[in-house]
Amino acid sequence: MDAKPLTVETLHQHLGDGPFVALVDAFYASIPNDPILGPMYDPNDLEGARRRLADFLIFRCGGPPRYIETRGHPMLRGRHSPFAIDVAARDRWVELMRGAFPAAGWSSEAEAVLRPFLESVATFLINRSSDPALGLPLTEPRRNA
Ligand code: HEM
Repeated sequence: MDAKPLTVETLHQHLGDGPFVALVDAFYASIPNDPILGPMYDPNDLEGARRRLADFLIFRCGGPPRYIETRGHPMLRGRHSPFAIDVAARDRWVELMRGAFPAAGWSSEAEAVLRPFLESVATFLINRSSDPALGLPLTEPRRNA
């Protein structure tokens, strides 16, 4: 393997598909029984959801663009707008993902590159206040996210 520095954009070049698929598998293993996140996911399409997230991460980290070929532009804010993502939901997503890295055998170096990216996207996807008195989206969804 060449000496390109480890960045989000070169991660796939260093790791290949395997660790991404393992990460998403470990993450989704916790979803069905999670009281906050479980109800958001269609139990009949968890396999599809896994594939979409794995394909997105592989594409975003410099691998083959299967996500773009099958789903088009990610538009993550828009695609998450049907789901009520408040700080608690964001924090739970991040927590389950934190647990998935060691379960999927990621090195701490590779984890240190991807995890901050995932956590900042997760924050960006918050679309509800946790305060019921302020139940409106914090901002209008940006369609080009
Ligand atoms: C902040 C907490 C988050 C929640 C509660 C959440 C929830 C969901 C749900 C319920 C789905 C639908 C599952 C499906 O059928 O595909 C989904 C899809 C998806 N999520 Fe998230 N998500 C979160 C954060 C993230 C983050 C941080 C990323 C990327 C770094 C991400 C990337 C995706 C992608 C790529 C899809 C599939 C979109 C599509 O092509 O339809 N999500 N998410």
